[in-house]
Amino acid sequence: MKGIVLAGGSGSRLYPMTAAVTKQLLPIYDKPMIYYPVATLMLAGIRDILLISTPRDIERYVELFGDGSRWGLNISYAEQPRPNGIAEAFRIGRSFLAGGPSSLILGDNLFFGSGLPQRLSDAAALQHGAHIFACRVDDPERYGVIEFDAEQKPVSIIEKPRHAHSNWAVTGLYFYDGRASDIAADLRPSARGELEITDLNARYLKEGNLTVERLGRGFAWLDTGTPETLMAATQFVCALETRQGIKIACLEEIALAQGFIDADEFARQAAAAPVSAYGRYLKNLLGDLELDARPMPLRVVNGRQ
Ligand code: G1P
Repeated sequence: MKGIVLAGGSGSRLYPMTAAVTKQLLPIYDKPMIYYPVATLMLAGIRDILLISTPRDIERYVELFGDGSRWGLNISYAEQPRPNGIAEAFRIGRSFLAGGPSSLILGDNLFFGSGLPQRLSDAAALQHGAHIFACRVDDPERYGVIEFDAEQKPVSIIEKPRHAHSNWAVTGLYFYDGRASDIAADLRPSARGELEITDLNARYLKEGNLTVERLGRGFAWLDTGTPETLMAATQFVCALETRQGIKIACLEEIALAQGFIDADEFARQAAAAPVSAYGRYLKNLLGDLELDARPMPLRVVNGRQ
């Protein structure tokens, strides 16, 4: 399965933070925001990634990730010239996906939870239909909202409803079979002028091919579109990392755990890392690796030992 990270938009709700720096490169505690969604795709086992951003910002991501080979990834880039909506990612990514299954993640979504890697790799095994995740939120009107029937089957998805029928918001992580680009090609812009991911999901729902997996207690889904939510995400990551001494979304650690890079490559990355808390973390992991004869003495990767 291939992955797309959509890091477009003007970040206007974060102005003036975003006047000169694109939103998804703002820090969430100790690393750029975009690290978190990239880590999520890696935990799903995805190595071929298309990063979509604006013509203004795309070079910054190239500078940050290059071709991704440091993490055993294959990252390519494409531009979204105008904020025409999330579903446009499948038009832009059509040749990249080449009719194969895909996962799309929004560049400002952060997922955390014990057991998440297993849930992600199960979703990434999808061959037919679409699989999305829902989380309970207090302010569903800001999101795509799912209504369930008495049997807990999804019956509708409505984008930013005035009156939400449930508190279950659609997260910014989606898995599709090979038809996503064809369906996206067929969509018409909504009243707000965007190709809505909710409309794409609604097509799968209408066909009876949409699975909605709820992430309940024990999972954190944070988006980072406002100063308050940006701060909340930073505090969340800071609290966990400083308390436990482990890092969330450490790409080198995940790459090693997933077998995308070997111990030698990890050692090169750790040795080359500048002196920062992140760099020290890599060097400490390397120290553990060298002390330990076991092939993968990872402390933890998102809850997985
Ligand atoms: C988008 C989607 C919405 C989804 C949300 C998740 O909203 O349109 O359905 O619930 O992402 O972050 P937007 O970021 O465009 O407000």
